[in-house]
Amino acid sequence: MYKDVDRIIVVENGRIVSDCPPNQLLCTNLLTQKGIREPLYIAALKYAGCQISEKDNPQNLETMNLEGYKEQVKNWSAAISVPAAKPVSETVLEARNLCFSYERGKPIVKDISFSITQGEMISIVGTNGAGKSTLASLICGFIKPDSGTILLDGKDIAPLSIKQRGEKIGFVMQNQNQMISKSVIFDEVALGLTARKVPQDEIKQKVCDTLKICGMYPYRNWPVSAISFGQKKRITIASILVMNPRILILDEPTAGQDYAHYTEIMDFLKKLNEDFGITIIMITHDMHLMLEYTDRAIVISDGRILADDKTSRILTNKTLTELASLKETSLYTLALKCGISNPADFADRFIHYERSRKAE
Ligand SMILES: Nc1ncnc2c1ncn2[C@@H]1O[C@H](COP(=O)(O)OP(=O)(O)OP(=O)(O)O)[C@@H](O)[C@H]1O
Ligand SMILES: [Mg+2]
Repeated sequence: MYKDVDRIIVVENGRIVSDCPPNQLLCTNLLTQKGIREPLYIAALKYAGCQISEKDNPQNLETMNLEGYKEQVKNWSAAISVPAAKPVSETVLEARNLCFSYERGKPIVKDISFSITQGEMISIVGTNGAGKSTLASLICGFIKPDSGTILLDGKDIAPLSIKQRGEKIGFVMQNQNQMISKSVIFDEVALGLTARKVPQDEIKQKVCDTLKICGMYPYRNWPVSAISFGQKKRITIASILVMNPRILILDEPTAGQDYAHYTEIMDFLKKLNEDFGITIIMITHDMHLMLEYTDRAIVISDGRILADDKTSRILTNKTLTELASLKETSLYTLALKCGISNPADFADRFIHYERSRKAE
């Protein structure tokens, strides 16, 4: 919790299901039962088998009493096996010394270089106005760099039009209403192929296959207006997937969604990444998402790359999180308070533990 509050009211289907002080609430499993994420340090303590009580003051990690739990947390994390890192594959997308300004003399992207390998799932993070969406626009060709190069499979993409890039690099915008232009789901997903004058029977086949992958096939004749927010997100993703891109860039894919919808979308993206080998680049403000789903992150601050590293190392580096105005993970504080000397390793173990629980 960012700020102490006196009471937390949990509402479900128009009814109050709990109304109590945070210390009491955190000792129950109500939040998880209702599909709300608990603070990560609380989750870690519970996974470690600690029976936390109100007297420990769990609402505030800084002042929480962890005396009885330190050994338990240490032993639990030591017992988690962390799988070996994925073998490094070929570079698929590379930026070399990219510079861009909307107005002369006001640089927004300042000498950015990075490379992303085939099949990677990576986050791009940074404060509002850091230049993340501008970077995505440069990659998609909506704007042109003042200098520097973007390479796809080692080839400069400067000569490629927006349309040609779109066949290789799909971009899912933050505001999905900006992306939807047809009233029926099938037509919406078919749009890119229709615009490219693909034969009708081929369009039908591809759209149906894609809708099946996205779990939206039964809705193919539904009006777009009749489906939920999460389903619309899937449709915008489907309308891009249908073009069979190698890379998907998503700008804030889970903004404004509760934990259940967030998990649904993220698990879907993970599946696309694992089963189809699609490289996924996520622009996000969400530190949980970054830690849970991506092994590596690029931190952008004021148009420059501040860090390009393992997420667990970024979120447990106090200097870096302060510089980039990110929120360091509470797992960092928990690890230190429990006498664990390597908080990044602890965060890694926590994530692997959660991933293996989910996979069960
Ligand atoms: N079309 C534009 N014309 C002029 N300046 C722009 C334009 N679009 C963005 N900017 C400026 O460029 C900077 C970077 O914006 P950008 O949208 O890339 O940031 P961001 O990291 O995506 O932020 P957010 O997290 O808020 O989405 C900001 O200062 C913004 O005001
Ligand atoms: Mg943005």
